Amino acid sequence: MIRIEHEEDRRQRDFLETPPGGENSGRARYAAAMHFFQRGMLSRQALEVYRVCAKLDAEDPRASLSQLGLLAELTDGDKAAKAIAELLAAVDAFLAGLPGPGVADVRAFVARGRDGFIRPRRAAANPLLDAWLGPALDAMQSSGQAALAAAIAAAAPYLRWITYDGYDRDAIGATFADGHAYASIIGEDAAMPGEDVDLGLFLIAPHVFYRDHRHAAPELYAPLTGPHGWRFAPGDRLEWMEAGEPVWNEPFRPHATKVGAVPFLCVFGWTRDVNEPAKVMPADDWAAIESGKV
Ligand SMILES: [Fe+2]
Repeated sequence: MIRIEHEEDRRQRDFLETPPGGENSGRARYAAAMHFFQRGMLSRQALEVYRVCAKLDAEDPRASLSQLGLLAELTDGDKAAKAIAELLAAVDAFLAGLPGPGVADVRAFVARGRDGFIRPRRAAANPLLDAWLGPALDAMQSSGQAALAAAIAAAAPYLRWITYDGYDRDAIGATFADGHAYASIIGEDAAMPGEDVDLGLFLIAPHVFYRDHRHAAPELYAPLTGPHGWRFAPGDRLEWMEAGEPVWNEPFRPHATKVGAVPFLCVFGWTRDVNEPAKVMPADDWAAIESGKV
C-alpha cells in the first residue's frame, strides 16, 4: 500500500506538470495540486493559484507561483524526501550502535519505514525549534555524532514540529508545555499511515523538567545530548545519564526527565499504542527540581 502511494505521487506529479495549452489541462493541474495539498505537501496559497488557473488552459501557473515566491514548493518535494531518507539512515546507524531492550523493536519498523513511502510535510514555524535545535546540534558535534547532526539539520525544515498541547497545562507545568517540540519521522501522520508506531525527534529547552508521567506505549529514548537527569518513580532522586545512553520504558513505567545545561535532543521510538494519552503522576518535589535545588 505504501509503495502504491509513492507511485500515485509520481503520477500526480506528471499531471501537475501537464504543459499549458491542452484542453482541460488547467483542471488536470488543479486536481493534482489538490492531491498534494491534501497530503500536506503544497500550501493553500499555491493551491489557490492552481484553482484560479483551472479554467485557463493556456496559462502556466508557474508564472504566478514564481511571482508569489511559491515556485520552490514544487521542486522542494524531492529535496525533502531525500533529506528525510538520509535522516532515517543516519538515525538507524545511531540506533544500531545502542545496547539494551527495545532497540531492535524500534529498528524493525524503521526498516519498514525506510523501504516505504516518505512523506515530507510542510513545516510550520516553531519558536522552540529556532531557539534550541542549533545549540543541541552543536552539542552533538562534541559527542561524536556530527553526521547525524548534519542529517537532522538538513531534514528539520521538512518535518512538522509540534509543541504538544494535549496535557493539562497545570498538571504538566508551563515550562514544559512551552519548552518542547517534537517531530514524527515515521508514524501515522508521517511515513507509515495505518501503522501503530512512531519514531521521531524530541527537543526540550535547557533546565526544563518534564514531570513524572506514564503511558501505555512502550518507548525508547535515545538521547543525542546529555547529561540529563532521569527517574522512574515519582519522588526518586534523579539519575544523570550521558548522551547515547538509551532509556527503554515498558508500558506504564513512570518516567521524568530534568534537562541539563544543554538542550535535550533525542530519537524517540514508540512501538505500539501510540494514540493512548499519557498521564501525569503527581510528586511533591516538582517545585524544588524546577527551581534547580535538586
Ligand atoms: Fe514518555
